[in-house]
Amino acid sequence: MKKIGVLTSGGDSPGMNAAIRAVVRKAIYHGLEVYGINYGYTGLITGDMRKLELGSVGDIIHRGGTILYTARCDEFKTEEGRQKALDELNRYGIEGLIVIGGDGSFRGAANLTKKGFPCIGIPGTIDNDIPGTDFTIGFNTALNTVIDAIDKIRDTATSHERTYVIETMGRNAGDLALWAGLAGGAESIIIPEVDYNMDEIVGRIIRGHERGKKHSIIIVAEGVGSGIELSKKIQEATKLETRATVLGYIQRGGKPTAIDRMLASRFGAKAVELLLEGKAGRMVGIERNQIVDHDIIVALSGVHKIDEDVYKLSQELSI
Ligand code: F6P
Repeated sequence: MKKIGVLTSGGDSPGMNAAIRAVVRKAIYHGLEVYGINYGYTGLITGDMRKLELGSVGDIIHRGGTILYTARCDEFKTEEGRQKALDELNRYGIEGLIVIGGDGSFRGAANLTKKGFPCIGIPGTIDNDIPGTDFTIGFNTALNTVIDAIDKIRDTATSHERTYVIETMGRNAGDLALWAGLAGGAESIIIPEVDYNMDEIVGRIIRGHERGKKHSIIIVAEGVGSGIELSKKIQEATKLETRATVLGYIQRGGKPTAIDRMLASRFGAKAVELLLEGKAGRMVGIERNQIVDHDIIVALSGVHKIDEDVYKLSQELSI
């Protein structure tokens, strides 16, 4: 293998740039040429790509977003779109592709591999919802962003003696809400993976208020429903002033933490190694702090699970 491509696809996440840098530098270290494809699979179809040199990925390890831009591409879901992408890859003489993104992006990589083109997936999403890895690139940074927001909201919640409902992203997964809720000391954490009991949440807020607590923080994952609607119901039931904050896209941006830069660097290097070993249709991951790889099908057919111990602990500490 002499020439490989790299792209980012789906929702961006902090640390994607560090992963691109690792792919490019590791590949050049091993004598490969690397092409960066712009706008994910859309750029693959339109042939929007350029050669990346060592300098192309200088000064990006600390930047959020992705220098390759990203997109969600419907055309690539069609056979015709995938054939156009293959034609472009062949035209450029690219022999292997590294895809940085979430499960939708992995599905694309699996389909290309099925057509005989070797692809490797690197999990990059703030949602931390990819089976086959304990962590995804960007989760740690987003988690710190949410905790920073919780700390700030707690200040004003105390001053005004209010309850705050904070809605986090995560699509259908509750990891971001769960970890942020535990690390941020929330009273209740509501996630899609576990049924919640409104009476219990209300009871906990009222009991806290009666023993002189100045605020209550409730974290709700977007996959459960609207934080604004929930805050209205809580105010009605507790008769305590309640406000909602939807954190939204600030969770997707910002400087990646050291942990995300490390993860991205390790994932990027491993992905190049796999292509050099002649592997295809694999995803990289981290399990118990060891870099691993699995059939990409693991990410697509497995079910994301929350860490039960973390959930149990969050319950025990928020009595
Ligand atoms: O997958 C990352 C994510 O930010 C989810 O948490 C969220 O549900 C979704 O992307 C938002 O997608 P879009 O950028 O298309 O609005």
